[in-house]
Amino acid sequence: MTDQDNTGPIAVVTGGAGDIGRAIARALRATHRIALVDINEPALCKAQAELEDAGRDVRSFRIDLTNPADLAQLASELAAWGKTRVLVNNAGRAMVTSLQSMTNDDLQIDLDLNLKAALSCFKALEHDLKDNGCVINIASVNGMGAFGHPAYSAAKAGLIHATQMMAVEYGKFGMRANAIAPGTVRTQAWEDRAAKNPNVFDDALAWYPLKHLPTPDDIAQAVVFLTSPHARSITGVCLPIDCGLSAGSPSLPRTFTQSADY
Ligand SMILES: NC(=O)c1ccc[n+]([C@@H]2O[C@H](COP(=O)([O-])OP(=O)(O)OC[C@H]3O[C@@H](n4cnc5c(N)ncnc54)[C@H](O)[C@@H]3O)[C@@H](O)[C@H]2O)c1
Repeated sequence: MTDQDNTGPIAVVTGGAGDIGRAIARALRATHRIALVDINEPALCKAQAELEDAGRDVRSFRIDLTNPADLAQLASELAAWGKTRVLVNNAGRAMVTSLQSMTNDDLQIDLDLNLKAALSCFKALEHDLKDNGCVINIASVNGMGAFGHPAYSAAKAGLIHATQMMAVEYGKFGMRANAIAPGTVRTQAWEDRAAKNPNVFDDALAWYPLKHLPTPDDIAQAVVFLTSPHARSITGVCLPIDCGLSAGSPSLPRTFTQSADY
């Protein structure tokens, strides 16, 4: 397949106008036609213009992933365009910061986008994905431990479980499903927190064994690998791309052992 081939398989990237979504779309466009799905119209136009120069077909779909009617429309427009081989459930956002401040409405908003929308989008596109397709769910280290944002974290933990169920139930169709759990990635999602504390990323580094933070391109390269034939035997896993954060933080063994080796 060449870059000019506009009949190839489609990769759907939700949240495709965001920082990690654009990096994923850029990386997948070498092998797929790209469907950018996002609620933010101006950001979508910018992302599409950025990607189009590669020669491969890129289309934008302005939809609200939490709206079932929008998802049905997306499925029908994609079916008319071609065969969806890859779904990257990447749209996500953390709103509730603590259980004490959480309201029922805010809980619903975090669960709807970070868990329900991903499962609903999968259901909307399952017809094509059942034919040897590939699903990547962008979860978070928040789904694996206590890092704050409780409603978002519960949703991401649910998404990791949903990934396992997709792998188990749809394996017989040749479909693979895997999750990726990024650590702190410097994106626009951090703007409010960086405005409150300009040192937030330096402060975060203290917890990271590798002493650097993952980038959007690091996440994108993991998506490329997991959707490639090199990962043909990998399904149902959650791959942390987190510079060691989920393995632990050096300060804890330093305290427990009183050894300077940490
Ligand atoms: N940045 C991080 O530190 C980090 C860490 C772990 C996991 N993640 C996950 O990575 C993914 C991408 O995050 P990002 O940092 O690139 O954020 P981002 O804000 O840059 O991108 C998110 C995109 O999702 C879109 N979106 C939000 N609600 C939508 C809806 N209802 N319908 C359609 N689109 C919608 C937004 O418009 C935005 O373009 C998210 O799932 C996030 O939870 C990010």
